[in-house]
Amino acid sequence: MVSASSEAPIGVFDSGLGGLTVVRSLLKRLPNESLIYVGDTARVPYGPKSPETVQRYASQIAEWLVAEGVKVIIVACSTATAHALTYLQQHVTIPVIGVVEPGARAAIRATRGGPIGVIGTAGTIGSGAYARAIHALAPMLEVRQEACALLVPLVEEGWLDHAATRVVVREYLAPLKHAHVDTLVLGCTHYPLLATVIAEEMGRSVQLIDSAEETASETALTLDARQLLRSGGPAMHRFVASDAPEKFLMLARQFLPGAITNVEHVSFA
Ligand code: DGL
Repeated sequence: MVSASSEAPIGVFDSGLGGLTVVRSLLKRLPNESLIYVGDTARVPYGPKSPETVQRYASQIAEWLVAEGVKVIIVACSTATAHALTYLQQHVTIPVIGVVEPGARAAIRATRGGPIGVIGTAGTIGSGAYARAIHALAPMLEVRQEACALLVPLVEEGWLDHAATRVVVREYLAPLKHAHVDTLVLGCTHYPLLATVIAEEMGRSVQLIDSAEETASETALTLDARQLLRSGGPAMHRFVASDAPEKFLMLARQFLPGAITNVEHVSFA
């Protein structure tokens, strides 16, 4: 095994645009690092797919990232974390970091006693991954979960502040409002892009949790522990989509202004 060098980029992937919310935190927390981002736009959404299929997609992308020479992989997708993190950690020779445990830790820090609400894709909620991660650290906390299947397609369509999005968000959040959750985990990396609409719906007393910052901190700790932090010099940021790179570029630019000028096309299937 060739040992990774600190100059190597960080590999990040998601089914589409959502993982860019993690990239945003990485750019802030680790500005010297180079990175390669993969959005699997040919196969988005992952949420309704079986665990086996998501695991296959995730391992194809992880293999590609390893071949590109990354030093760590961040699974910037809750669904892929829920279905494939353990598998990847067992099969890939570099560190692999997911977003579920960081999100759970942040929620436990933020709650005033619960209940904690969790929203995510059907796959993530069906897996129970967030509830397990929260209960592993705080067994007494009540967790209320809601699968929100329509939110990822709305984000991929760029409908971040659209009347239809507001109606759909209201419908999904109603049971959690009714349960008086004090903290709401945005348990899908696409959802922080809808944070304004979600915050308006839940009201100011509910704290929204985005796992991106906690994930960026965990990445910093992991790299530091292995002496893999890059010290300086211009960082390189590559963005890759498995389909329609122009559409990806157009939408991605809206929420990472200045960071993305070009999107490459790579097929994983
Ligand atoms: N961003 C992914 C997640 O965090 C979206 C999954 C999907 O493509 O449905 O779960």
